[in-house]
Amino acid sequence: MKQPIVIAIDGTSASGKSTNAKLVAKALGFVHVDTGAMYRTLAWHCLERHMNVEDPKAVASLCRRWKTSLECVDGHVLLLVDGYDPAKEIRGEAVSAAVSHVAAIPKVREWMKKRQRECIQFGSLVMEGRDIGTNVFPETDFKFYLDAHLEERTKRRAADGLIENLAARDQRDSQRAAAPLMIALGARVINNSHLTSAQTSGLILEEVRKRLGAAR
Ligand code: DC
Repeated sequence: MKQPIVIAIDGTSASGKSTNAKLVAKALGFVHVDTGAMYRTLAWHCLERHMNVEDPKAVASLCRRWKTSLECVDGHVLLLVDGYDPAKEIRGEAVSAAVSHVAAIPKVREWMKKRQRECIQFGSLVMEGRDIGTNVFPETDFKFYLDAHLEERTKRRAADGLIENLAARDQRDSQRAAAPLMIALGARVINNSHLTSAQTSGLILEEVRKRLGAAR
């Protein structure tokens, strides 16, 4: 049987990771994993319990006690909270403001890394996040880093009806001590400020096919 492969797509907030990861997964018939949604789900779970998301001990302890499960539904992996998928709630302002605090906690990142590596049980993956190529699946040969100008990314978020201080979030994601956002060694960097998602996903697919061919 063929070994499953992992395509890692990392990058800044609103750089088109989700749109392109979904397009690439669909084109290749791979499973899509949004690791940002996993961190957001944990942040939501903390807020529901009125916990201080800046208290590393409390958040790490909630993580340990968390009875969660990974499920693959229609080609997307979901992290469920007592069988519930808070897909809508995790896109709200409260979760967006809380999530990078939760994501900066080393024990939380260790816990998430385990869950994210377990996703390979579902087959070949397109996994998007901030540390997939550097930390979660550093062994993969398929690494991409997406970025776009801050103005363009702010416009994209606004088009989704969300006003967010992306510069502050990027800074927190890049400057944290544990698995900060950075370009993985060997990653193909794509600045898509002036590209459509069809063009960006086309570049990713072209590179994946080239690398797959070279590996044969
Ligand atoms: O991609 P997103 O905006 O949904 O990510 C939410 C937050 O989670 C963001 O602040 C960065 C963090 N994150 C992370 O630290 N590591 C990942 N692999 C994915 C997301």
